[in-house]
Order: sequence, then structure tokens, then C-alpha cells
Amino acid sequence: MTKHSTILITGGAGYIGSHAVLAFIDAGHGVVVLDNLSTGVRRAVPASVPFVRGDVGDGAVVADMIKRYGVGAVVHFAGSVVVPDSVANPLEYYRNNTASSRTLIQACVDAGVSRFLFSSSAAVYGAPTRVPVAEDAPTVPINPYGASKLMTEWMLRDAAAAHALSYAALRYFNVAGADPAGRAGQSTPRATHLIKVACEAAVGKRPHIDVYGDDYDTPDGTCIRDYIHVSDLAAAHVAALAALTENRTNLVLNCGYGRGASVREVLAAVQKAADRPLDIRAAPRRPGDPPALVADVAAIRRTLSWSPAHDDLATIVRSALSWERRLAAGTDVA
Ligand code: UFG
Repeated sequence: MTKHSTILITGGAGYIGSHAVLAFIDAGHGVVVLDNLSTGVRRAVPASVPFVRGDVGDGAVVADMIKRYGVGAVVHFAGSVVVPDSVANPLEYYRNNTASSRTLIQACVDAGVSRFLFSSSAAVYGAPTRVPVAEDAPTVPINPYGASKLMTEWMLRDAAAAHALSYAALRYFNVAGADPAGRAGQSTPRATHLIKVACEAAVGKRPHIDVYGDDYDTPDGTCIRDYIHVSDLAAAHVAALAALTENRTNLVLNCGYGRGASVREVLAAVQKAADRPLDIRAAPRRPGDPPALVADVAAIRRTLSWSPAHDDLATIVRSALSWERRLAAGTDVA
């Protein structure tokens, strides 16, 4: 694929997808977006980018877009992402994540689209016994969300073996922050992710913040996660597509920094960035939370020509907070 063939980005109106749209445009690629706006927001996609409101599970819409825009690669973000919802509505997750992905992959195979990047998740590892966790660790998801992602990885693996398709499955750790230039951020309503929720508390959108468990076997008793800045993650997609284009070998890569921060460390960083104390309350453990989840990043560092530009918790938190302030002030629209 050259830069002259178009990239179809599904879920490009969502949090991570909208940052990827910017990263691909900044790198000189042409992109088109397919998003059903179930959680994404239309204004997150620049007006210059062709946008189709539709479902990834609608094969006719996908086939039409591939043909109409001369699509040479697909970057697939669209999907449902809330772990507890996946436990309550597993079949919905298998439909929206797994079955819809199958339709999309089929459309790519039928149309000869030979490069596919997939948003996978550290959730495929479940609760790993060893951290940092490497890509060859056992994949034993502990919730339907993780299983729905892993099943899509398997479909890609098998389709790539049978057809002219190369794929990269990028297993995200904890994605946070916002575009440093303020062009995009996380607008998800009813957010549950720690940094987003803490920033909402910092701007007064929430009265307090709960710490889900402070009796874990970790240095300060709270859970440890590997937080990666969303713009670094977006840049990793650009690098992964370049690698697929050059080498045509399939890739399964962790996306993180290889370092963990505890819930308490994150909350301290948010309080520092906001320059105000938060009302922090101890709460019971949240079911299904692994105590520590940190990426082994040897493979991504070795394989992609990518190095993080925002590998710093304070930087991540500052960008998230400044986006939250824009949302609160209603100035998130360019
Ligand atoms: N947490 C709190 N209070 C909150 C929100 C979160 O204490 O208000 C804690 C959680 O218990 C956890 C940590 O902060 O220990 C991070 O929680 P997040 O909800 O921000 O993120 P998760 O680690 O649960 O989720 C991430 C990804 C998911 C993925 C999962 C795999 O966001 O998509 O890792 O484990 F499925």
C-alpha cells in the first residue's frame, strides 16, 4: 500500500479512533471513517475526512466504502469497551465485537484489502501470573470483553493463513490522555476509566472519587496499571501499518510503556495537575481487577519504528485534565 491508497478507520469518532485519524492524517495518509455514533461523536472527526454513519457489521456498507474510496487498509477500532457491561450482556459483546469484526474481515478478504490493524486489549491476558506480561503469555480472558477481542485475534490469524491478508493485533494497556494540541480527547459519556473519572472530579463534574480496593499485594495496596498516552498509541498504529506494508508479516504487540503506576499515584498526579485536593474515598475491590497489569514492551520496541513521545504520568494527566476543562467549558469544538 502506498500513501495514496485510503485507510478505512472504523470507530474513528471514538476516543482512540479520533486520535488515530489525526495521526494518520498528520503522517500524510488519506483516511475515511465508518462509525455508528453509538458512543462516538461526529465532531471528533475533522470535517475534511469523509464520514459514513453506519455499522461495521453491515457488510454492504463496508463493501461500498472499500470500493468508493479505494481502501487499501483497514484500522478497526469500532466496538464496545466496558468490561462490566460485557459481563451483563455477553451476547451483545460477541455480536458487536466478534460477529461484526467477522463481517468486516470478510469484506476485506472479498475486496482484496490486504492489511488490517486491530484494536485488541490487555484483557486477553486475564489476570496474568507474571508481570510484565509478554505477548506469548497464556491468553485466558476473565470476561466476555476480553474473550470477544481474543476471538477476533483468532479470526485474523486464521484468515491471514488462508487468504492474502496481513494483520497487526495491538494489545492496548491503559489508554489515557488527550491530543497535546487540544484537537481531540475523551468525550465518552458515563466514563469509568480512572484518569478520566479523576479529571471529571477535578473539574467538579463528580463530587468524589472511589479507590476500588487498597488492600492489594502492591506497594501502596492499590492496583497497578501501565498507562499509555493516547497519542503515542495512535502513533504506534501508523508505525504498525508501515511495518505491515513493508514486511507483510503478522504482528501481535503489546502497547504500553512497560512501567506501572498505582491508583494512588495517579490520583496524586491529578491533584498536582489540578492544584486542588480531591475527595478520595476507599471503596471495595471491583470484581475482576487484576492487582497489576504492566506490558513487556520488548516486542513493540524491537519491531516498530516507534518511540513514545509522552511517556510520563504527569504529562498524560495534564493533557487529560486540559481536555476535561474544555469539555466543562463547552470549548471542545474546534
Ligand atoms: N479505579 C478506581 N476508581 C475508579 C476507576 C478505576 O480505583 O473510579 C481503579 C480500578 O479498580 C483499576 C484502575 O483504577 O485498579 C484502572 O481502572 P480503569 O477502569 O481505568 O482501567 P482497567 O484497568 O480496568 O481497564 C483497562 C482497559 C480495559 C481493559 C482492561 C483489561 O481500559 O479496556 O484494562 O484489564 F479491558
